[in-house]
Amino acid sequence: MKLVYTYALGAYAARRAGSSPVSGTTVINRKASVIEVKNITKTYGKKPYTFVALKDVSCEIPDGASVAIVGKSGSGKSTLMHAISGLDRPERGEVVIDGRNILTMSKNKVDEFRAHEMAFVFQSFFISGNETCFDNVSLPLEINDFSHSEIRKKVQKALSAVDLLDKKDQKAKNLSGGQKQRLAIARAIVNEPKILFADEPTGNLDSVNGQKVIKTLFDYNQKNGVTLIIVTHDPELAAKCDMQIHVVDGKVDKIIGKKGGKNA
Ligand SMILES: Nc1ncnc2c1ncn2[C@@H]1O[C@H](COP(=O)(O)OP(=O)(O)O)[C@@H](O)[C@H]1O
Ligand SMILES: [Mg+2]
Repeated sequence: MKLVYTYALGAYAARRAGSSPVSGTTVINRKASVIEVKNITKTYGKKPYTFVALKDVSCEIPDGASVAIVGKSGSGKSTLMHAISGLDRPERGEVVIDGRNILTMSKNKVDEFRAHEMAFVFQSFFISGNETCFDNVSLPLEINDFSHSEIRKKVQKALSAVDLLDKKDQKAKNLSGGQKQRLAIARAIVNEPKILFADEPTGNLDSVNGQKVIKTLFDYNQKNGVTLIIVTHDPELAAKCDMQIHVVDGKVDKIIGKKGGKNA
């Protein structure tokens, strides 16, 4: 999980560590992305100890949809999420986002693309307890050349969206579990991603806090039109999404639309 975090925040972390900055652009009127996954196969390990985690998986995720990737533990949900986001590379197939195949991009290009277009919320919140809520949320903005006042505005907007503005100057370690996860959501949305990924975002929360986190994610999806992709094994949560991609043993078993109709 630490590795995933390092990857997900790679560009920000690199900037913080003083390595060469990734060029930043301010994009106005950001729209959600259409994602086409075509026949991807992902094998872990080296022969003879290989494990095929995704087998010829295809799906299409429309602009601004809320999508659940559902399945039992070990079925390949996280692997699929990592493939869609370019965190991991399947050896076969295509992942086309707004017409660009991210599997043929260089690693640097994918990292840059991800830093500008995508954001992640994980089961473990990856919050820096000794930093204030403001500083936790402003972290992803460091790859851009925003002025102090722009940063302040963006962080305040993100904290307001998750109902934590009053905690702005508090150290993050003083927050409850649910608040920490909402803080992680604020950090994810502060740079206005087009695609928001959440991998088991309520896994470490009690049901009351879990509900609030889910509401925060769906509110953001609906108000801002970002594509929301949630990895979950919770059928109740999956049923709230526009679309459910059911994964069984590394294969797409079925894709269901919200009204119960099958899309594929
Ligand atoms: N780095 C890895 N090396 C080898 N096997 C892996 C690796 N990551 C995941 N797997 C295996 O791939 C399968 C799918 O994993 P994962 O996508 O994490 O499942 P899920 O998120 O549905 O629980 C599991 O059997 C898991 O053990
Ligand atoms: Mg998983």
